[in-house]
Amino acid sequence: MINKTGVTREELEALGGALDAARQRTFDDLDVWHTGEPQTETLDAAFIDLPDRLLAEYEEKRGASELSRLLATANRLAETVDRAVVLGIGGSYMGARALLEACCHPYHNDLPRAERGGRPRMAFEGNNVDNDASQGLLDLLGRGKVSTSVDDAWAIVVISKSGGTLETAAAMRQFTAALSDSCGGDAQKVAQRIVPVTGESGKLKDLSTALGCPDVFSVPEGVGGRFSILSAVGLLPAAILGLDVVQLLRGAVAMTKRTREAPLGDNPVLDYVAVGHLMEKKHAATIRVMSTWGKSLEAAGLWYDQLLAESLAKSEQTGATPLTAVNTRDLHSRGQQHQEGRRDKLITNLIVDSWRRDPLPIGHSKNNQDQLNDLAEKTLPEVMTAAVTGTNQAYAEADRPTTDLHLPGLDEYSLGQFFQMMMLATVVEGRLIGVNPYGQPGVESYKKHMNANLRGE
Ligand code: PA5
Repeated sequence: MINKTGVTREELEALGGALDAARQRTFDDLDVWHTGEPQTETLDAAFIDLPDRLLAEYEEKRGASELSRLLATANRLAETVDRAVVLGIGGSYMGARALLEACCHPYHNDLPRAERGGRPRMAFEGNNVDNDASQGLLDLLGRGKVSTSVDDAWAIVVISKSGGTLETAAAMRQFTAALSDSCGGDAQKVAQRIVPVTGESGKLKDLSTALGCPDVFSVPEGVGGRFSILSAVGLLPAAILGLDVVQLLRGAVAMTKRTREAPLGDNPVLDYVAVGHLMEKKHAATIRVMSTWGKSLEAAGLWYDQLLAESLAKSEQTGATPLTAVNTRDLHSRGQQHQEGRRDKLITNLIVDSWRRDPLPIGHSKNNQDQLNDLAEKTLPEVMTAAVTGTNQAYAEADRPTTDLHLPGLDEYSLGQFFQMMMLATVVEGRLIGVNPYGQPGVESYKKHMNANLRGE
């Protein structure tokens, strides 16, 4: 693979000490969090060992563990409904969507139930206040009709850590009313078909109690929204889809261990942070393009956009701008800019090493007007590899910096590694540049104005 970043060995070596200190601070924060001492600033480090803790409890308590309860609820829903509507926004939404797109059949929602392995379709709402989109989904759910079988039954998974986010709360009210119609007004059935994931207290928690929902899951203390994909926030939707959540967690555990122990040069988190940081500070690459090769990682890229943007952009001087591209698609839209535009980008190729399905050849045809018969034996993965290599060559010739990040496959273990890697990298980078990566004070301002406008204040 032809890569060129412009980062020198001397620059990397000079950064080593500061990187080690940032890593140390990242894990020290976790220890501090475990002491339970009150903190003066947001310290949501508990995501770091959450996968370890969930797996350990599962091993120890099995049926009585959080993970077992989550799997039982997911299976109960899968047996009784054909569609799950996941309500949530930001960190309470993007991870579940990333998991669906990365790990499920690309047309999961369009497949007949048997070909979905008996798992429900999944739709997302409460992530906007788009009148037509909400109405469209209500139409699809059979608005006003009483469900008569599993095939037209649906459920709500409502996810909000604070329990007070307007977009999600408004959708919850609208979709609960529709669900009540679908359940023929049977309040007990409605309660069974709503699974809230929320903080220990708040409006959604109170609503869940009032509705009598039998299964309620927590966003654990010390886990912030955009760091919550490996809590019930992402794991419950994943389990509903039939994904192997244990493997997701195991991948994350392996990444945490490697981040803690491996030196720069053999440590994906430290290496990723070092290159991104040096490119930004010394080579003016303030835009980080996550260039995903293939369709299934677009939502994972968008999940990362939020993670980086909300975590590190806390002043006018900090935080690179993240941008997800999907190739080869975007070679035909953004490619021109990346090749010849401003020299303000670092392109990280996110490459899948092995596809789930057998390689599909282009194939022979008696109609060779397209002149593809000489490529007939070439498969789509081979074309993809040629595209990745060719694009890297073109960028290298023009001194455009690129790096490669390889995912062994689109399986739960690899995705668990990826999500944990990016969360840890974001925190390590924050500590490296003196920014608290947790909390998002800037997001509160729009909420204050929106609420004032709505209430005529
Ligand atoms: O990262 C974050 O904390 C945010 O993006 C939140 O996830 C988002 O604002 C939704 O918040 P809540 O889960 O409280 O509804």
